[in-house]
Amino acid sequence: MTTVTVVEAAETSPGRGRLATFTAQQRQIGPTTRPISGSPGSVDHRLATGRYQSPLRYPGAKSGLATVIGKLVESAMGSAQLQRVDLLVEPFAGGAATSLRLVGAGIVDRVLLADADPLVAMFWQVAAAETEELIDRMTDEYDRYVSHGGVVALERWDFWRGWTPPAGMSADTARREAAMKCLFLNRTTFSGILHGQAGPIGGRRQESPYGIGCRFNVGGLTERLRYVGHLYQTHRLVDVWCKDWKETLGDVPEWYPQLIPNRVVAYLDPPYLEKSGKLYQQSFEVTAASIAEGAYASWSSGRAHRRLAEYVRRQIQFRWILSYDAHPTLLSDKAFYSNSRMNPCDRDRIEFGTKCWPISKRLVSLNYTASARNGRGAANELLLTTLPSRCVPVDDLFKPVI
Ligand SMILES: C[S@@+](CC[C@H](N)C(=O)[O-])C[C@H]1O[C@@H](n2cnc3c(N)ncnc32)[C@H](O)[C@@H]1O
Repeated sequence: MTTVTVVEAAETSPGRGRLATFTAQQRQIGPTTRPISGSPGSVDHRLATGRYQSPLRYPGAKSGLATVIGKLVESAMGSAQLQRVDLLVEPFAGGAATSLRLVGAGIVDRVLLADADPLVAMFWQVAAAETEELIDRMTDEYDRYVSHGGVVALERWDFWRGWTPPAGMSADTARREAAMKCLFLNRTTFSGILHGQAGPIGGRRQESPYGIGCRFNVGGLTERLRYVGHLYQTHRLVDVWCKDWKETLGDVPEWYPQLIPNRVVAYLDPPYLEKSGKLYQQSFEVTAASIAEGAYASWSSGRAHRRLAEYVRRQIQFRWILSYDAHPTLLSDKAFYSNSRMNPCDRDRIEFGTKCWPISKRLVSLNYTASARNGRGAANELLLTTLPSRCVPVDDLFKPVI
């Protein structure tokens, strides 16, 4: 359980052959992970119960799913085993729509965000702890570049696409700049895609009525950033980790042992099985830690999906909810989720108290943005969970898997 480490993220862009390196990242917001102590402050912000709270647009984000996950957790809290959720952990945070929604609505007490993509993690770290500085920086970017549109805005887009911390830049400054890079590219690139080949909104010619700045609404973004800052100040957002999912899930019991096994729930929203490797850069899997483990697995080959399945079936020490595209392999293959309960090894059962919780499976129909699911409107999402099975609903929304 390291607090600061050197992470190298090789950020390759297939279209450009570029290689960028971030070093000496902060693995959490402060010098060490924030503990959970006392009661968190009350959430007093207009956006707390709003529909959209995240400053990031996210490929694959399905705002409808946050509501569904909220209903699932509320329903599970009817069980004697899980009366409240002290901490919701989101190891594939991305735009963090679910965490921001559930903590604002008071369904969970606190949230912990984590993402292996350094740009995403650094964005959330700075948004949480240096909110006003980021708002000032964003406003300045808008006034000087985005508001002009055309060549000025496109040149700035190219600048951020190519930006890496220059030699000699302090780690704190690099983190703030990385947060701005993430926010700028997320709001000005097609579908909010940060890496790879996606181009600026409106294209290189900017001939569309929707130009590069059409999603860069400074007023709305300011409010959303302040909501994130408020959650951090009130200790509702506990911390933001820059870690691989496996490290996040393994570190939670180390940092918050008092919550194991029934007062913490992980919400896992990994890249889709069907689309892996297209929307998300895999570069952040090349971390010092993963190389050391010899675990250079990739989502696109399916290996990372199997590693995740193996871990949540056999090793995880707390309850989890997993959302996926409804790919038949996930339900039919033993290496994925064909089993109906967790099956930890004897050693983990005895040493760590790992449970044999049943795995409930449901299909939920959702409307997606065109970018998220092959351009189709409605699609089924598969929900798998070890929340107390008797309280996992079966109804028109949560359809049983046959
Ligand atoms: C489907 S998106 C999550 C979307 C999110 N639920 C939302 O509402 O915006 C998947 C996220 O997982 C992150 N990710 C990919 N591989 C990861 C890994 N090995 N460990 C942790 N995060 C990873 C990506 O950077 C991306 O932000």
